[in-house]
Amino acid sequence: MQKIVVLNGPNLNLLGQREPHIYGATSLKDLESQMEELGRGQQVEVFCFQSNHEGVLIDKLHEANHVGIIGVILNPGAFTHYSYALRDAIAAIDVPVIEVHISNVHAREAFRHVSVTAPVTVGQIVGLGFKGYELAFQALIDRAKERGNNGKITETT
Ligand code: DQA
Repeated sequence: MQKIVVLNGPNLNLLGQREPHIYGATSLKDLESQMEELGRGQQVEVFCFQSNHEGVLIDKLHEANHVGIIGVILNPGAFTHYSYALRDAIAAIDVPVIEVHISNVHAREAFRHVSVTAPVTVGQIVGLGFKGYELAFQALIDRAKERGNNGKITETT
């Protein structure tokens, strides 16, 4: 069975309570249930994790670098804007990572306009709320289909 990891970073455990005018009224638990449900519908096993700690997120990225895992959906929270360690972890692994932000970071404070992590991801989805995670899920499945099981480039053409 194909597997996808959904990794949420700092303060995303407070979804539903935290600045609901920006992040909405739905909890992290609801988001994770939605993703697991989506996986069940497509025979993909979905593993969800959240941590407020940079090192734990890095460990999870290293762990995700396994055969059978077709990709990681990562919302690095504020680490997006300054964590070179997280960026290096993404660059170090072969498994494709898609970066997701619930809010439109480009319409917010200037410090949120920069992502140090995005350049080493497959792509970034911002501003579409939880829909961004669903789109990333579909993109990882399509990518794995196109490129072979691990989403890696198998041919140089
Ligand atoms: C966020 C955007 C970040 O700037 C912020 O620090 C977050 C959430 C988002 O999903 O919109 O914690 O990643």
